[in-house]
Amino acid sequence: MAFQSPKGTFDWLPPRSERALRVREAVSAPARRAGYGYIETPTFEDTALFARGVGESTDIVSKEMYTFDDKGGRSITLRPEGTAPVVRAVLQHGLHNGRLPVKLWYSGNNFRYERAQRGRYRHFSQVGIEALGADDPVLDAEVILLAAEGYAALGLTGVTLLLNTLGCKECRPAYRAALQGFLAGLDLDEPTRRRAEINPLRVLDDRRPELQARLAAAPLVTDHLCEACKAYHEEVRSLLSAMGVAYTDDPRLVRGLDYYMRTTFEFVHDGLGSQSAVGGGGRYDGLSEMIGGPPLPGVGWAIGVDRTVLAMEAEGLFGEEDPAGGVPVQVYGVPLGEEARRRMFRLLAEIRAAGLVADMAFGGKGLKGAMKGADRSGARFALILGERDLAAQAVQVKDLTTAEQTEVPLAQVVHVLKGKIQ
Ligand code: HAM
Repeated sequence: MAFQSPKGTFDWLPPRSERALRVREAVSAPARRAGYGYIETPTFEDTALFARGVGESTDIVSKEMYTFDDKGGRSITLRPEGTAPVVRAVLQHGLHNGRLPVKLWYSGNNFRYERAQRGRYRHFSQVGIEALGADDPVLDAEVILLAAEGYAALGLTGVTLLLNTLGCKECRPAYRAALQGFLAGLDLDEPTRRRAEINPLRVLDDRRPELQARLAAAPLVTDHLCEACKAYHEEVRSLLSAMGVAYTDDPRLVRGLDYYMRTTFEFVHDGLGSQSAVGGGGRYDGLSEMIGGPPLPGVGWAIGVDRTVLAMEAEGLFGEEDPAGGVPVQVYGVPLGEEARRRMFRLLAEIRAAGLVADMAFGGKGLKGAMKGADRSGARFALILGERDLAAQAVQVKDLTTAEQTEVPLAQVVHVLKGKIQ
């Protein structure tokens, strides 16, 4: 049998692939307008970067990483997320010694060995932003607003913003202890009990309904915040409200990565079933130190491109598309004979240089086959170039909507087409 793409992966093919491009474009545009510069980091990093940055006890690090030794014996991991690599790059190049905050956006593929299902893939794509070097609730609010603007620009209406805070170095330990005390009183299965010891907050994220029911009385982080965290969170909330960004307080929102502190959030969509998170992020003030850097606060998010496309499809936001998946063709060349093919090749380049979208029949097709190609392309005009036309230095311009055909001198055809199309 021929090869298939590996389990948990899929191919983006035209015309649907155009949707992924549109999502990347729309969700990055607000960030670019807010001064975020583009960063590209390698697809793989030292394994230790993720082990320390994302956290040994997370599912991502303990179960889902694509890790291997390279031929030089280094342990390498395909990136499961983009934040730790961005912080690594900022520290490596000393970007934090310049103007602060350092604002960066990225777009790329990530790899997690997860249980594959609709909306959850082993290879998926994110667009993300990170702002480093400022501890300021306005920056948290800006970051969240930029994501909300991205979804709105795509026309999505079913996205809900869930908002929480996870406290800080000062108040989190007391909360953690209170939660652990509560969990110790429950009769938990062995893996869950172990998780309660290592990373009790993750237990709150357990999806099993019977456990969720027993967790109803669990202490909430929002009842254990220090004064500074309380004030910070109130400020973020009021800034969002002032901008008309709707949110739902979710004191049980815990994220799957260990680096978060204070503000955390997720964007969920109601049309996606269990894989409902279309984006998520938060503040990660300790991450730089976790990977050996100086104290450097940061906040950011990543939007899942694949799931955002699914959400848009669930809302029926895509209209009719060009079947080839590119920009719809406007002009289609029908060359008849060798010499005409060469001339058409040059003519198409001129037409495209003038800003029109043009394609042509390849493979030496006859008039009938080539005209079928013209129809299929969806082009408005076919340019028919035969030997007689060449001798007359002219081309037949056929309007495919009316079947009306006119002869136009080759020297004027670009001008004439531009006039008819724009
Ligand atoms: P995350 O919540 O792990 O956060 O991922 C962000 C988004 O990526 C998710 O909301 C989801 O849309 C998408 N995603 C994650 N895993 C998969 C998967 N297996 N298949 C399809 N889509 C997926 C982060 O990655 C953090 N680095 C975000 C961040 C940036 N925090 C601060 N700055």
